[in-house]
This record gives sequence, structure tokens and C-alpha cells, in this order.
Amino acid sequence: MKDRLESLREEALSALGKIGDLPSLGVWETGFLGRKSRFNLLLKGLGNLSSEDRKTVGQQANGIRDELAAALANRRRELSSVSLSGLSETERIDVSLPGIKPATGHLHLVSQAIAEIGSIFGRIGFHRSVQPEVEWDWYAFESLNMPSDHPARDEWETFFVDAPNHPKLGKMVLTPHTSSGQVREMQRRKPPIRMIGISKCYRRQMDVSHVPMFHQFEGLMVDRGVSVTHLKGVLDHFARTFFGAGRKTRLRPFHFRFTEPSFEVDVSCGVCGGTGRLGDGKCRLCKDGWLELGGAGMVHPNVFRSGGLDPEEWGGFAFGWGVERTMMMRSGLNIPDIRDIYRNDRRFLEQF
Ligand code: DAH
Repeated sequence: MKDRLESLREEALSALGKIGDLPSLGVWETGFLGRKSRFNLLLKGLGNLSSEDRKTVGQQANGIRDELAAALANRRRELSSVSLSGLSETERIDVSLPGIKPATGHLHLVSQAIAEIGSIFGRIGFHRSVQPEVEWDWYAFESLNMPSDHPARDEWETFFVDAPNHPKLGKMVLTPHTSSGQVREMQRRKPPIRMIGISKCYRRQMDVSHVPMFHQFEGLMVDRGVSVTHLKGVLDHFARTFFGAGRKTRLRPFHFRFTEPSFEVDVSCGVCGGTGRLGDGKCRLCKDGWLELGGAGMVHPNVFRSGGLDPEEWGGFAFGWGVERTMMMRSGLNIPDIRDIYRNDRRFLEQF
């Protein structure tokens, strides 16, 4: 028994010498000194010895236990001072170094424009609404005074969705313009209405000035006694606030099925100040002092009927045009190709 105790002692001390980290010390301690350690198992044999032997072996065992405990404490001290001195190297912080700036993103320029347009109209009492991205034929065309055989529909190069027809509202399409929001809004709330709807639109088109998915904003005002002068005032408010003080709008007669009379809206050119002339020659941006924004007009009686309102009682105006185009017309922006906006090239997007 004496020899077995001695060899256990040697084994334990040599294992302890090889330990290089604090967690392994804990394992060593349970293995050699713990309650169920081999050392304790050995001591269970003490009871079988004669009282004489029990005394000497017991003394030997106590000596070994004290020795191992002392060696353990020593090793623990050594290892913790090593790991502490290492800490001062590995965890060193130089508080005088300049900080690392966390990367911060920002809203996409179209989201910025949408927020700005919404707030410009919000200030004069127009509330934001959103149109569905998938629409029924009836809302997109029929309700806006464009019967199914009408050639005016060709203007909206519509994507048809491969889905069952609605029994009353007809085919399913990707929303081709936000004007369907006029009728949805009339059905949704009682006049007076002042709405600015900003939503996604889809058309089969793609070149420097067109993308298949784009955004439009649609204004609608319905009340008693609304006239073209109200429309003009609202448009001028937008031109001044979005493009800058001194900018004006003008209305040119046009034709839309859902407004009567209908207009095209132009904004005075910011480069030549609306004169069409720059230095000795013509302004190269606008040619005649005006830039084309989009469509507008007085809501057609049939559109009121679609929305469940009596055209004898209510009047109103509407206007609508593209967010991307309007944004690109801001002087100084100089985006040569509308497709750049959606290419997701950070070198482009980070400039805005
Ligand atoms: N929805 C038309 C388009 O996409 C634009 C438009 C024209 C909207 C006249 C209107 C309006 O509200 O009155 O081309």
C-alpha cells in the first residue's frame, strides 16, 4: 500500500507539472484530491491493515495529501500570474488612439424623395395613402372611364397577372398607375378628401428614362366648389417647396380619360430661370423655359360615379406623376440614366 501511495504521488506531481492552464488544474484536483479520487479509493483499504500499519500508512497518506494540496496552490498561483501578465499584452487598449467610426447607412434616394413629397403635401392637409401593387382591371382602367376596348389603355403598357379573373372587377394586373387610388379613396372615406397616394407602379418599359418598376404620387382633392385655381395653387406650392423659391408651374391643355378638362403640368426651368435662354443661346436643359412634370385635371364625372359620389354635388382635381422623374429634374442632381437609381451600386447611392 505504501508503494501504491508513493507511485500515485509521483504520478500526480508529474501530471501537475505538465498543466499549462487554469481550467485543467480543476480537472487535476478532482482526479487526484476529490472525494472520488484514486487517492481516496486507496485509503479505503486502510481499514484492512493492522493498527500499527494503519498508523504509519495514515501518516504517509496525510503527508502526501498536504504535499499535493500545497503543490496545487503553488501551480495555481504561477498560472494565474502568467495569465494576468499576458492579459496586459493581449487586452491592451490605447485610449489615445483615434476611434473607429461605425458605418452608418441612409435611406435610398427614392425613399428620401417619397418622404419629402409626402411631407410637402402633408403640410397643406393632404394625408398619405398607399395603393396595392396588384390591382384589378376595373380599378386601373374601367373605373377611370377607360372601357375595355378603349385605345387610351395602350398608354399603360400593362403587365397582366396569370390569375383567375375577378367575377366583377375583371383581370388582375400589376398596378400601372396610381390613379386607381382615386376611386379606392372615394370608396373608403366621405368627402372632403385631400389625399396624396405614393405607390409602386409597373409597366413594360426600360430605357434611359423608364424602368419597369417605378413610383408615382397621386393627388386628389374632393370637395364642394373646387376649381382649377385650387389645383394651380397646390401645384405651385409643390414647385416652390420641392424645386426652390421662384419656381412656377403652368398648365397646358391635354387629354386624359379620367379628367375633364385635363392638363399637362410644366415647371419653370431652374437653369435658365424660365426664359429658355442661357448666355447667347438656348437653354440646353429645357429649350423653351419649361420642363414637363406630369398630368392633372378636374375629376371626370364618371370617376366620381365609380367612387360612389354624385358628380352634381362634388367637384375635385387630381394630378399624378413619377417620383423618380420629378426627383431627377431637381437642378444639380444630374442623373443621366434613371436605371442607375436601381442598380444598387453603392458608389452611386452613397452620393445622396
Ligand atoms: N395616371 C396618369 C399616368 O400614369 C397621370 C395622371 C394624369 C394622373 C392626370 C392624374 C391626372 O391624376 O389627373 O400617366
